[in-house]
Amino acid sequence: MDQLSIIQPDDWHLHLRDDEALKTTVPAAARGFGRGIIMPNLTPPTTTVARAAAYRERILAQRPKNSNWQPLMVLYLTDNTSPDEIRAAKECGFIYGCKYYPAGATTNSDSGVTDLNKLHEVLETMQEVGMVLQLHGEVTSDDTDIFDREAVFIERHLRSLVQHYPRLNIIFEHITTQQAVDFVLSGGDNIAATITPQHLLYNRNHMLVGGIRPHLFCLPILKRDIHQQALIAAATSGNKKFFLGTDSAPHIQGRKESACGCAGCFSHHAAIELYAEVFDQAGALDKLEVFASKNGPDFYSLPYSSHSILLKREPWQLPMAVAFDNSQLIPLAAGTTLNWKLSL
Ligand code: DOR
Ligand code: ZN
Repeated sequence: MDQLSIIQPDDWHLHLRDDEALKTTVPAAARGFGRGIIMPNLTPPTTTVARAAAYRERILAQRPKNSNWQPLMVLYLTDNTSPDEIRAAKECGFIYGCKYYPAGATTNSDSGVTDLNKLHEVLETMQEVGMVLQLHGEVTSDDTDIFDREAVFIERHLRSLVQHYPRLNIIFEHITTQQAVDFVLSGGDNIAATITPQHLLYNRNHMLVGGIRPHLFCLPILKRDIHQQALIAAATSGNKKFFLGTDSAPHIQGRKESACGCAGCFSHHAAIELYAEVFDQAGALDKLEVFASKNGPDFYSLPYSSHSILLKREPWQLPMAVAFDNSQLIPLAAGTTLNWKLSL
């Protein structure tokens, strides 16, 4: 097979940043995708409907001409989010989820939630109005090893959360472990997960053996090979609970190649092709469409795209760098050769 036509995919988890950065990130996010779930971890974070509306306008101002790409906005939950804000978010028509960051878990998460118990009324309201909860599922306690933070989150918080709110639609974002795959599989139809290209393509050896590769550092951190294999099996299974979410998260080169480098991988230079590579290697190209273009809309109760995209088997070399925010960033798999290319 040398060509693959699929329904236009969507990206159910991405970071655009703001202002000047949008000139790069918005066209990149629209490359091949129909819609994108826009993460709200700005400074200050997108905690209100009014902020989300203004951010959406700044994003749309950078959308390429003739593009129908749609930003789907997200509210950032804090200890002080009110049930009224959740109702307003549901009613506004452009907010599709609320993001839970444990305070301190990752980039711009300082205003995140310090204790899930403080969110009781908010979560009740989300369940009642049918608002999706997008979870960064890691504990942040100092006593927990960074490689165990996702697995511990499941046992310490997620099992009881699902029990307390059995009808709440929950997306376990950017899962990285066998335990997360098993948890999602054991849950009801209201529990799903997104999977990034970096967690499918790499494990922690790729990041750390033979030298430290800061451009593979993201959160949750890459785990060992057995977890990578579990994620590949889940993504390529065709199971409706798993879908595409790149977590494309740009940081300029100097902020990554640093004594204290930022977490995040930029993948919108070649996102759908990076996934195609994984599915091809797994002998599962026939499952790419359901993962990239159907399972996400089904979970969010949205229609599939009426457009399609064409991928061609055509080796091409990824750029070594991408211009970004008056500087440059090093994209995921920079300089490597991919076998599949999006026909634009
Ligand atoms: O690696 C990451 N980068 N993980 C996150 O959760 C946030 C993201 C970012 O915003 O840079
Ligand atoms: Zn993210």
